[in-house]
Amino acid sequence: MNLRIPGPTPVPAEVAQAGAAEMIDHRGPEFAAMMERVTTGVKEVFQTKNDLAILSASGSGAMEAAVVNHISPGEEVIVVTVGEFGKRFLELTEVYGAKPVEIAFDAGEPADPNKIEEVIKAHPNAQTVLVTHNETSTGVTNPLQQIAQAVKGQNRFLIVDAISSLSSIPVKVDEWNLDVVLSGSQKGWMVAPGLAFVSFNEASLERQAKTTTPRFYLDLRRAKASAERGQTPWTPAVSLFFQMDKSLELIKAEGMDNVYARHHRHGERVRSGLQNLGLTLFAREGFRSDTVTAVLVPDGVDVANLRKIARSEFGLVLAGGQGPLASKLFRFGHLGYCTDEAVEEGLDAVAKTLEQLKRS
Ligand SMILES: Cc1ncc(COP(=O)(O)O)c(C=O)c1O
Repeated sequence: MNLRIPGPTPVPAEVAQAGAAEMIDHRGPEFAAMMERVTTGVKEVFQTKNDLAILSASGSGAMEAAVVNHISPGEEVIVVTVGEFGKRFLELTEVYGAKPVEIAFDAGEPADPNKIEEVIKAHPNAQTVLVTHNETSTGVTNPLQQIAQAVKGQNRFLIVDAISSLSSIPVKVDEWNLDVVLSGSQKGWMVAPGLAFVSFNEASLERQAKTTTPRFYLDLRRAKASAERGQTPWTPAVSLFFQMDKSLELIKAEGMDNVYARHHRHGERVRSGLQNLGLTLFAREGFRSDTVTAVLVPDGVDVANLRKIARSEFGLVLAGGQGPLASKLFRFGHLGYCTDEAVEEGLDAVAKTLEQLKRS
């Protein structure tokens, strides 16, 4: 099967095999050495000297960690939403009793840094801004550097969901002064789902000390204290650490610039290939993601049927739309371990699926 969903993504054979290694003591020296290598490698990709917590959780666990460690009940916060994952941040802040002010942009559109700055200025009590870098549900990459300038220019604390961009699209955590940044193993990292990464800076440590929200499993202070001893507070997903250790070797061997260039090349190829088939891309031009492409389902076509034919007849696994876009879109993932052949085979399978749909 050609797994072309925006995560979980295919895992290279060497990485899968690495995960099958014999179990080790998670409080022993081999684990500590591996944790040091993985932490150093992930920080390099994050382009940060900040602390990094590696949680045994999916990406949503990292989102929850960002909220419970930095936001207190009753606090006003600003949540920028351009799709379903922005809405997830909104929901999380509500669940934990914060008072979110939503800056919503239409699906398919990017967030506008000027608008964000305007709303921030109008809400002097809202000290924290939460934003999605790459909105996987609509295939939009937000202009993160400009958003960070707008937020930091107003001296607010910035939490970034870079779950489906980091390691595929450049994110310069320190240069852009991003306070808390999240990613997840099943996206560009070429690893199975189950590890989440949270980078956090000095300002975050001050916030963590002041935040009154109760927290336990996802307490970043515990993660930091354990990391200093080469451990995690709780039993980690050791097999996924083995996988990360191997995938970081592969990423390093390819070189980050080449990894970014490959994602951009695949993004361009998928966009032009699908448009050449007469399909319409959903995201606004100029903000289309190099990790996932969202495509409008042609008139009269049922997305479930399209995906079923692609899968059963042509071995291509596509994602559907999410939330209100469930029946309107399909999504083609091109992140992580993705080859030129996988892209070409995927485009060919979409073409054959459309032909079959026309005949039926
Ligand atoms: C942008 C973004 N944020 C958050 C998540 C949630 O991550 P998970 O499904 O690993 O909990 C995803 C996963 O699809 C995502 O793409």
